[in-house]
Formats: sequence, C-alpha cells, structure tokens
Amino acid sequence: MRNKTILALGLLSTMLMAQGALATDLSIVHGAVGRDHDVLRAALDRYEVESGNKVTIVSMPERTTDQFAQFKLWLSARNADIDVYRLDVIWAPQIADHFVDLTDATKDIIDDFSPMALQSQKVDGKLVALPMFLGGPALYYRADLLEKYGKPVPKTWEELTATAKDVMDAERAAGHTDMWGYVFQGAAYEGLTCNAMEWIASSGGGQVVEPDGTISVNNEAAAKALDLAATWIGGISPEGVLNYAEEDARGIFQSGNAVFMRNWNYAYALVKGDDSPIKDGVAVTVLPSDGTHSPASILGGSHLGVSKYSKHPEEAIDLVRFLNNYESQKARAIDSSRPPTLMPVYDDKEVAEKVEFIPLWKPVIENAIIRPSAPTKTSYNEASSEIWTAAHDVLEGKTTGTKAVAKLAARLKRLKGSGWK
Ligand code: GLC
Repeated sequence: MRNKTILALGLLSTMLMAQGALATDLSIVHGAVGRDHDVLRAALDRYEVESGNKVTIVSMPERTTDQFAQFKLWLSARNADIDVYRLDVIWAPQIADHFVDLTDATKDIIDDFSPMALQSQKVDGKLVALPMFLGGPALYYRADLLEKYGKPVPKTWEELTATAKDVMDAERAAGHTDMWGYVFQGAAYEGLTCNAMEWIASSGGGQVVEPDGTISVNNEAAAKALDLAATWIGGISPEGVLNYAEEDARGIFQSGNAVFMRNWNYAYALVKGDDSPIKDGVAVTVLPSDGTHSPASILGGSHLGVSKYSKHPEEAIDLVRFLNNYESQKARAIDSSRPPTLMPVYDDKEVAEKVEFIPLWKPVIENAIIRPSAPTKTSYNEASSEIWTAAHDVLEGKTTGTKAVAKLAARLKRLKGSGWK
C-alpha cells in the first residue's frame, strides 16, 4: 500500500514537473472597446486551463491609429516581450515582415474561415494573421422615437439629415435639451477615413483609391457627400463629434442623447445590454446611401498575428488557433456581438437566438467595402491620413468638398509617385 502511494506520488510529481517545464508565459496586445477585454480574458482563462500556459493582456489605447504607432515601434525594436498582436484588418501589407507565416500552421482549419478575411491578411502568399472577427458598421437608431414622431427609417443621407433634425428639435422642445440627431466618428483618425469612405462610396463617388490603385476621389459625388456631412456639425451632430471615436459616439447614443449613431457591431451588445437605458427602443439597419447607389459599410475587424520576435512561436500559434476556434468565436459573437470569421458560426442556432444581429449582418459583411490597404501597399497609413485630414477639414468648415477632393487627389498622387510601393 505504502509503496503504491509512493509510486502514485512519484508519478504525479513527474507529471507536474513535465507540465511545469512546458508551461509558458505568453502575452497578447489588444486594443479593446466595449466588452472586448472581458471576453478575451474569459477565453484566455479557458486556454490557460487547457494548456497550462499563462497569458497576459497588454492593453492598448482605443483608437487603432494610436495602436499602430506603438506597434510599429515595438516591431522595429524586435520586441520579444509580445507574442501575439491583435491587428487591424488594414495593416497586413505594412507590417508583414514582422510576423510568422501562419499558412502551414493553419492548413487543417483554414477552409472554414471567411475567404475575404483571409485575402485581407495575405501578403505575397504569406498569411500574416489569422482572422479573428469582422466588422461592418450599422446605423443604430431609436425606433421608439421614430415611432413616436411617425417617421420612417431613413434610407438616404438626406432623409437621415431631415429626420434627425425633426426628432431632435421635437425632443428638445419637449424638454430633452441634451438631444442630438446623429453621432459618428469625426475625429482625425482611421475611424473618420471609414466614415468618409462610406459617405463617398454610397453616393457614387467611388472608393477614393480603387482596388487597382487608381486615385478616383476627385469627383463631384465625393465632394457633395463631404459637403452634406459638413452641414451636420453643430446642426444634428455636436461640435464635439470632430473629436469623437467609437466609444464617444456610443456614450452619447447609449445615454439616450442621440437619435442615430453610426458604429461597429460591438456596440450592439452594449446598447442592447441589461444596463442600457435605451435597450428596448434601439434597432439597427444598414447605413443610408444617396438613394441611387448601394449603401456602403466599410470592412473592419481584427486579426491575430504571431510576432517573429516571440520566444515561443509554437505556443503563440497554439493560442491564436484557440482564440479563433469555434467555441471562442461563438462566445465572442454572443457576448460582444463581434461577427465571426468562421463561417459556420453564422449558422449557429444559439448565436442566432441570442444575437439576431449576427446572422442578419452576414450579407452586409460579405458586401462590405474594402479600404485601399492592399493597392496602396506600405503607404496605406499615409494615404488614410490624407483621407481623414481632407474629410476633417471639410467637416470643420476650413474648405469645401470640391477643393478638398482636388487637394486630396493631388496629395495621394504625390504619395503614389510612379506607383504604390
Ligand atoms: C474598428 C475596425 C477597424 C477600423 C477602426 C477605425 O476598430 O475594426 O478595422 O480601422 O474601427 O476606427
């Protein structure tokens, strides 16, 4: 008996030692909004139990433009402290060299992933990041207020402008003095590039830089779309919108102080959450257009890349696979309304029951407009900064749409030089 106990204890300690020897400390950088952080932590807790490894989250500022500046510094310094980066969908061509090629390591699971998402992460045949979640902005609106004032859901930007004003004015007259008509992301950063591209594309003004690299923005439809947006500032949108990112817009909308909001999918879980004062009155629809062209939602999303400077690339790959497996994607869809990259999750009954927004948004995501990160190659960030600066100048009233698109086209042309590199 005694011998058996000693044998068992011996075995146990050998197992623990083996586990101890294998246990690895990993870190992941992640710029969270809404419930992202908690949902990631819950997934990491499951991963830690399964793998015996420990994972630390390194938190980043909310705006992806700020994240990118920091990531570039870490990557060029070959920082070995970070194993996994959560990357914005637009970055792959600019930072591909710093990441492990995930092609072989994901061969057995890749067929279920969204082909469009995979395409965005491939640079010269290398899979830079494994798609984590997608994004396609929606028009969030106060269905209760539209009903109260007998207004239909707007289908065009002009209708949105008029309805936002009517409902805002009526609510203010009724004593709700903090009420606004429309909130969106108007600060000078990547979020404004997304909004401006949506206004322009849905008005027939093209995609600023087309998939073949042609600069198309210098046109009347694009100018008009920007001019209309400029009328919102200080009218249906607070002046402060010129410095709003995603969470600023959600803050106003969720506290009941805006009729319409443009935002990504993560906002759904929050505005519909148990503690949301507007949960019963809010609904989502596609963004407006000019009435002639199709509405345009920009493709967003975040994907997981393994740093080439990680000391534990195998474990890091294992972690990336875990965070993107069916269970993790399903949890993300249900808990933070993040559209999955694994296509079968869209057909999951429980997901549909709990967050009808996910299956509803599948076609919007599949038809989303892609920012010109592939054609502009390593110049995307500069190109985007030109786009958001032009849009911001018009919103601020510093210039007109016509002048802004002409100047933007000239500046993009200079950046392109003899060809995008
Ligand atoms: C969201 C999108 C991302 C986009 C950013 C702009 O995070 O997922 O693709 O660049 O918003 O603010």
